[in-house]
Formats: sequence, structure tokens, C-alpha cells
Amino acid sequence: MLRLERISVEIDGATVLREASIEIAKGGTVALIGRNGAGKTSVLRSIMGFLRLSSGRISFEGHDLAEVPAHCRPSMGIGYAPEDRRLYGSFTLEENLRFPGEVMRITAAELSRRLDLVYAVLPELQGMRKRPAAGLSGGQGKMVALGRALVAGARLVLLDEPFQGLAPVLAQRYGTALRALREADRDIALLITESNPSLLRSFADENYLIERGEVSRHGALPDSSLAASGLASWIR
Ligand SMILES: Nc1ncnc2c1ncn2[C@@H]1O[C@H](COP(=O)(O)OP(=O)(O)OP(=O)(O)O)[C@@H](O)[C@H]1O
Ligand SMILES: [Mg+2]
Repeated sequence: MLRLERISVEIDGATVLREASIEIAKGGTVALIGRNGAGKTSVLRSIMGFLRLSSGRISFEGHDLAEVPAHCRPSMGIGYAPEDRRLYGSFTLEENLRFPGEVMRITAAELSRRLDLVYAVLPELQGMRKRPAAGLSGGQGKMVALGRALVAGARLVLLDEPFQGLAPVLAQRYGTALRALREADRDIALLITESNPSLLRSFADENYLIERGEVSRHGALPDSSLAASGLASWIR
């Protein structure tokens, strides 16, 4: 459903992605694992249309995204939770969730269906719906950012280092929410970046490694192949 074909991206004359190829099937979960500065965020920003490709092609459900301006991509069903969660502090939690749906002008019935999914996957948000987002903790804010990405991302959800900075118990909770999402909707595809492969290896169907903008494909990563690939040394 999403295919990055040998994409290259330059920022200020420096190459940040070099002929990177990634493929995600409908309902698939793909992890993109790489150290700081490897290019993970640049991959997601390229999919969202915030970075211009110097070569290569991104297609989404058969459409060449070169023909789709960045502001139209969420309406195709692509949700994005950037690493800095960027909630609107003066809006309530639920207003933050509704916001992408309202910008995309999805129908009230569809928005309500999406919110039901968010509250089913993240039931703890329900009791806090009227709270101003400014009063949420960092961990709660991450959950809201996931929920917000789900409102736009009916087809594909991009999560940039969602586990980063979460206390272990919250990281576990986040993982449970992702599994609940998998159960609730088997068609949504997930692309999750991470610098710590131990957090995702049991979760993703497919793992890609990124190093200095170059992407390689590693299939599923059981513990043994993780050790063999030398990735174990990354685990903090
Ligand atoms: N706006 C920018 N201007 C200049 N260089 C940039 C810019 N954004 C990213 N880069 C460079 O592109 C490379 C890839 O950055 P990117 O943010 O995609 O990495 P990352 O894997 O997401 O890192 P992190 O784990 O720190 O989030 C880095 O070398 C970075 O310095
Ligand atoms: Mg990043």
C-alpha cells in the first residue's frame, strides 16, 4: 500500500536519504530502526511531503505522491505523530483529537467512528477528554498524539520514536495500545521508527535498518538474528 522506491533527499546540499526503499503492505507493521541522525524522521517527513525528493518515488495505494501536495496527504488516510508531539495546549484533549478530522472535513459520522476507535484503543483518554492538553503529562501527551494520528490515519499511521522518553511502564502501556489497535483494525498499516530495536522486534512484521540515510531490509528479527546482526549492541 505504501512503497518508497529508491528515494533520495538532500537538505542544504547534504544527502540525508540515499536511494532508500521501504514497502508496507495493507495492515502491515514495519519498524524503521536507526541511530540518532540516521534519517528516520526524514523518511517520515518525505512521506508526509515536507521534504522534497531529489530522486525516487513514493506511491501510496497506487497514487504517485509527487502529485499530491503535503496538505492533501492526511486526507488520503495518512496520520503522523511527530517525535515532538505538538498538542494545542489551550484545546481540550478531545479537541486535539478532533482537530485533524475537522481540518480534513470528514463527516461527523466518520469522525465519531474514528474517535470510538481511539477511545477503544486508549480507554484512559476517555476520562480526560475535557482536560486542557497543557495539563497532560508527557506520557499522556504521547497517547493523545497517537490518538490524533489515528483520527487522520485511517489507512496508514506514521509514529516517530513513540517510545522515546516514556517510563518503562508507559512504554509497555503504549505497546499494549498498539496491539489493541492491531486487533481493532487489521487494515491500518503502521510505520514506526525507533532507535532501540528491543522495543519493536516482537511487534513488527518487517524491520528495516537505516544507517546514514541508507536503508536495508531485515525481515522479522527474532532475538537470535538480532544478536547476529550486531544490533544487540544498540540495546540500551
Ligand atoms: N532541517 C535540517 N537541516 C539540516 N540538516 C538536517 C535537517 N533535518 C535533518 N538534518 C540532517 O539529516 C540527517 C537525518 O536526520 P533525521 O532527523 O532524519 O534523523 P533521525 O534518524 O530522525 O535522528 P533522531 O534519532 O535524532 O531523531 C541528520 O544528519 C540531520 O543532521
Ligand atoms: Mg528523528
